[in-house]
Amino acid sequence: MKVFATADIGPAALDLLRQAGYELEVYPGPEAPPYELLLAQTASGIDGLITTLRDCVDAGLLAAGHGRLRVVAQDAVGVDNIDLAAASRLGIPVTHTPGVLTQATAEFALFMLGALARRLWASENLVRERQWGAWHPALPFLGSEVTGKTVAVVGLGRIGRAFAQKCVGLDMNLLACGRSPQPEWIAAVQREMDLRHELGFSRHRARIQAASLREALGAADFVSLHVPLIRPGDPAAGADGADVTYHLLNRQTLAWMRPTAYLINTARGPVLDEAALIEALRQNQLAGAALDVYATEPLPGDSPLRAEDLAGRLRLYHHFASGTVETRLSPDPEQGMAGRCVAGLRNVLEGRYAGRLAQMPWLANRSAFQK
Ligand code: GLV
Repeated sequence: MKVFATADIGPAALDLLRQAGYELEVYPGPEAPPYELLLAQTASGIDGLITTLRDCVDAGLLAAGHGRLRVVAQDAVGVDNIDLAAASRLGIPVTHTPGVLTQATAEFALFMLGALARRLWASENLVRERQWGAWHPALPFLGSEVTGKTVAVVGLGRIGRAFAQKCVGLDMNLLACGRSPQPEWIAAVQREMDLRHELGFSRHRARIQAASLREALGAADFVSLHVPLIRPGDPAAGADGADVTYHLLNRQTLAWMRPTAYLINTARGPVLDEAALIEALRQNQLAGAALDVYATEPLPGDSPLRAEDLAGRLRLYHHFASGTVETRLSPDPEQGMAGRCVAGLRNVLEGRYAGRLAQMPWLANRSAFQK
């Protein structure tokens, strides 16, 4: 069977494919292959396509598979770069890698929160630039303590919940804002908070509460985004578009935030209107933000997010939240994205689960195969 991979997603995992007799071609560049090349590869007759979040897998590309293309295996949990509706129409299962990047992404979001609160970049810069003149109780600046503060978690999927659970260890209060309210999980988190207090681990009893977006943004000291990107018109948007997350944080919603609050985005760039963020920062409507994802990636050299006047309050990372050796590269499908991606592809191509697609794990368009 022939498989084309648009990136070297992990040598050990790809070796498993070769050892199983697959004819595998891997695009050699660090950058994504041009769309025309991807189209030519798909049209040349391949059984499986391994993609990353940088590839545009649209209806034209899927149709170019001429019925031979039997699976698209995405090496990411997010699949907003893939036309899932077209894949379902063409009967092509799309696999992805949910679960194995949950902890890595959640912990990175927490570290971004810490970097903002305690001004880690400014502190290191001070030392590196030889500007650390004297130890002083308050000069040249102070940070904000995280313990006991309130964090709004927007999106209560795997990563949002894992992030929230990590915040419990810092005795933060939580505002849980999600499409599905998760009352049992909320009750379990409150039990853990109560126990920490009863055991004397925390001085104050922390609280978790369900909240609307407006309530969450209006009351939080930190806001962390964990929603998938859903654009208007996407079938996942719901009939009335209520589940659209494109520009969820925009001029209006950013204005709900407190001037002392910080925003963290590890979800997808277009969930946040970058122009509105820049304006809000300049007008001191929020204290700062940390971004790991952008409307255009890599972040263009001339992006206004790079403006000098914002540098002190805006941390920028390179879509790195899942970027640990274990999470990105492990060939073990229970540990690594590469392993889970390859296993998802093989599940389909080797007809595992008795060939029943609806029963295979890690299918992004499972509903198309449930009839
Ligand atoms: C990373 O952003 C992913 O979707 O896996």
